[in-house]
Amino acid sequence: EKGNYRHYMQKEIFEQPTVVAQTLQSYVHRAQETVALPQIDFDLSTIKRVTIVACGTSFYAGMVAKYWFEQFARVPVDIDVASEFRYREPVLEDGGLALFISQSGETADTLAALRHCKQAGQTIGVVVNVPTSSMAREADLLLPTHAGPEIGVASTKAFTCQLAVLAALAAHLAVKKGHMSRDEEREVVGHLLEAPACLNAALDHDDDIASMAHLIAPARDVLYLGRGPDFPLALEGALKLKEISYIHAEGYASGEMKHGPIALIDDQVPVIVIAPSGPLFEKTVSNMEEVRARGGQIVLISDREGLDAAGEGCIATIEMPRVHPLIAPLVYAVPVQLLAYHTACVKGTDVDQPRNLAKSVTVE
Ligand code: M6R
Repeated sequence: EKGNYRHYMQKEIFEQPTVVAQTLQSYVHRAQETVALPQIDFDLSTIKRVTIVACGTSFYAGMVAKYWFEQFARVPVDIDVASEFRYREPVLEDGGLALFISQSGETADTLAALRHCKQAGQTIGVVVNVPTSSMAREADLLLPTHAGPEIGVASTKAFTCQLAVLAALAAHLAVKKGHMSRDEEREVVGHLLEAPACLNAALDHDDDIASMAHLIAPARDVLYLGRGPDFPLALEGALKLKEISYIHAEGYASGEMKHGPIALIDDQVPVIVIAPSGPLFEKTVSNMEEVRARGGQIVLISDREGLDAAGEGCIATIEMPRVHPLIAPLVYAVPVQLLAYHTACVKGTDVDQPRNLAKSVTVE
C-alpha cells in the first residue's frame, strides 16, 4: 500500500498536490471562478462570530484560518484547543458559528466541545476528513476534506486539505458579508487553484531537505519562527519534529523571540525561520539578525527573493516557489513536514507509529 515509499507519512506528504486539488474541486467553481460550499443552502451572511475549536495539527489549521476570516471576512474569531475550551465557560452569543476541525472526526475533546456548542445554540460547522465520523454526523454545515485515509500518526495531508477548505470558507464568508468583490473573489479562486502546482514545486526540494536533516538530527532543541498566518506553521513544524524525531522543539511568533526564548540561543540550537517574502518579511529578517548575533544556526525557508535578501550566513536554506500570501501556509507546510520526516529517518525512529501516540485520541 505504501508503493515506492518507505513510510506512510512520506507517501501522504507526496499525495498533497493531488488531494488538495481533489478537495478544492468541491469548493471552487472553476468555470465561474467563484468559491462554492458543498451545502449552499446555508446562509452565512448572518454569522456574527466564529468560534474555532480543535486539537493538535487541526488546531494549527484553525489558527491560520483565524487570520483569514478576520482579514477577508472581517468576522471576529475566537479559537481554542478543545481541552481548554470545554472547561473555561466560553461566552457563546446567538448567531455564532462554532467550527470544529478534525481529521478523524472522533477526537474526544473536540467532539465534547461540539456537543456543548450545539446545546448552546451555535451553528455547528465541521471540517472533517472521515465522512462517516461522529463529528460529520452532528454537523449543521459539513465541510469535508478529501485527503483520503491518513495512516501516519503525524498529520500531513489532512492539514493542507483543511487549509484549502478554510481558505475557501473565508472567501465565501467574505463574499456573503460584502467584504469581497466579484473581482477579488476571482483573484482568490485563481490563487487557490495555483496551490497544487506550488505544492509540487515545494516537493521538488525533497532531496535538498533530506541532505540537511543531519544538521537537525543531533540537536537537543530546535526553534521554529514565523509571523502572521505563517506563525501557526512554526507551531506545526515544532509539533511534527517532536512527534516523530523526539527532539524538543518550540514554535514562536518571530516577534516574541526577544521576550524570552532568545535566551536559549547558542550555536547548538537550530532555528528554522519560515518567511515568505512580502510585507512581514523585513520584520522577520530583523528577528533573524538577533538570532544570528547570538550564534544561532538559521535554516531559512523562503522564496528566491527572500533568500537573496537574507539567505547569507544561514546554515541552510530551502527555496519555495513565489506564492500569493493566501496559499503560503499550504505550500510552506511541505518543507516543514519534510524536514521533520527526514530528521526522524536520520534518527531511525518509528515515523508512522511514534512512541506514546495514537492516531485518533478518543479518550479525554
Ligand atoms: O483527528 P484530529 O484532527 O481531531 O486529531 C487532532 C490531533 O490529535 C492530531 O492533529 C495530532 O496532533 C497529530 N498527531 C499531529 O500530527
